[in-house]
Amino acid sequence: MPQLTWLGDQAAKHTARHVPYRLLETVSQHGDADAANWLVRGDNLDALKALLPFYAGRVKCIFIDPPYNTRSAFEHYDDNLEHSQWLSMMYPRLELLRDLLAEDGSIWVTIDDNEAHYLKVMMDEVFGRRNFVANVVWQKKYAVANDHKTIAPMHDHIMVYRKSQSWMRNLMPRTDEKDRQYKFEDEKGIFRSSDYTCNKTAEERPNLYYSIAQPNTGAEIWPSKTRVWAYSREEHLRHVAEGFIYWGKDGKGKTPAYKRYKHLLKNDGIVPQTLWMHDFAGHTDGSRKEVREVLGSISLIDDFITPKPELLISRVLQVATQPGDLVLDSFLGSGTTAAVAHKMGRRWIGIEMGEHAHTHCLPRLQKVLGGEQGGISKAVAWQGGGGFRYMQLGEPVFREDGSISPAIRFCTLANYLWFLETGAPHTVAAFDTPLLGIVGEGENAVAYLLLYNGILGDRRPESGNVLTSVMWPYIQHLAPEHRGRWVIYGEAARMPESRRRALGVSFKQIPYDIRMK
Ligand SMILES: C[S@@+](CC[C@H](N)C(=O)[O-])C[C@H]1O[C@@H](n2cnc3c(N)ncnc32)[C@H](O)[C@@H]1O
Repeated sequence: MPQLTWLGDQAAKHTARHVPYRLLETVSQHGDADAANWLVRGDNLDALKALLPFYAGRVKCIFIDPPYNTRSAFEHYDDNLEHSQWLSMMYPRLELLRDLLAEDGSIWVTIDDNEAHYLKVMMDEVFGRRNFVANVVWQKKYAVANDHKTIAPMHDHIMVYRKSQSWMRNLMPRTDEKDRQYKFEDEKGIFRSSDYTCNKTAEERPNLYYSIAQPNTGAEIWPSKTRVWAYSREEHLRHVAEGFIYWGKDGKGKTPAYKRYKHLLKNDGIVPQTLWMHDFAGHTDGSRKEVREVLGSISLIDDFITPKPELLISRVLQVATQPGDLVLDSFLGSGTTAAVAHKMGRRWIGIEMGEHAHTHCLPRLQKVLGGEQGGISKAVAWQGGGGFRYMQLGEPVFREDGSISPAIRFCTLANYLWFLETGAPHTVAAFDTPLLGIVGEGENAVAYLLLYNGILGDRRPESGNVLTSVMWPYIQHLAPEHRGRWVIYGEAARMPESRRRALGVSFKQIPYDIRMK
């Protein structure tokens, strides 16, 4: 497959693997204490890696709006990266985002003409060309800049990729305009009239070229010269018998139409399209006002310059998610994605490295909990409620010399090791025995254990971390049915190698045998 090359591309392709796993620490809790929504302050490269052991393969929809690399002087973040640097910035982040995405998930990335076409090629490489879904064109402006020197830009691109073919899009809700087309009614219900012809010639489709009798005037009616009927004679006779032909209000019309009844629609929605006009998905003037209103900032200088409209994000979430799904935005900006996901009943994680994580996102999301009525609130009847945690990045889980940070508790290390061994996050919220879990069945099954920080009952960190023969009955008792191999992590093994081999035990010494992915 053709690939993009740029200065530093090889290093960029190794970046994600070498980013250390860091802890995420709660700074403050807001609203409902049980809510699992996270606002994370920090560089998304570190934050995305920190999320992997807990959320790999679990995110239903990612929306990101990265810096466009337009050389605009933004007060709140650096949008003046050199081209190769921008590509190197994006590549590892896209890789981590791909790993976080669920098999039936999708990623949506907004971008303008500066980098759109490079981004498309890069995303083909990271997500697979077959997983490209669409390049949605969003009309971000409604007024043309008449002083523009060449061709005035009016739109952004939204690159849409799915993780795999199991992604299914939702239909968009019907609009009032579409509903207004259903303006006729008979004893069977409300209907709209639809064209009874199609764009083919009689030579091309002779079986669709025949005369139809007008039931009230007796006239013999033929399609116009360049068209044919949309249905065969047999289908037409069935339509007549079942009362599906519309001849106008007085029944004397000169052309037949087909009655499309609203109650017979197979799917009551509209197929999403690749062209999103500003009246459908909002525009940038409106989104700046939205943020200004919700944050109550008067001075334009304090404005966050590039927020996206709530309506735009709500369209993405309508197509790509259901209530309860997890939504991630790792370039959160002023917090729009989190605000919209929250109001639409989705779970969310938002990551922002700038100061505006606490000057913009935090107060905005607190107001959302309080029921603020801007943006999409009225459309979704938002009343307030829910909660989130404000988090920051903590120290690396594994230090450079391979040792484990003393801040790490059993449960956290268990999550990391489970992820390193299986490539998937664990399904239990908390571990309370050294047995982390069993993968596979029968003799092929592997049981994973961790002896760390006194999990065996001894609270001294140096103790209870050693595999001994005396301990073996206790370990076996944790999984009496298990017939396969045992992988046991601990600080030392005092069980003879030959005994371990006989029992099918692979011992992995902390920290040396912990290989980071
Ligand atoms: C275009 S703005 C996003 C605006 C957002 N969609 C909104 O509606 O407010 C891009 C954001 O990405 C943030 N950003 C850039 N690089 C980042 C990184 N490495 N980690 C986290 N955030 C980053 C910037 O600080 C900026 O706030």
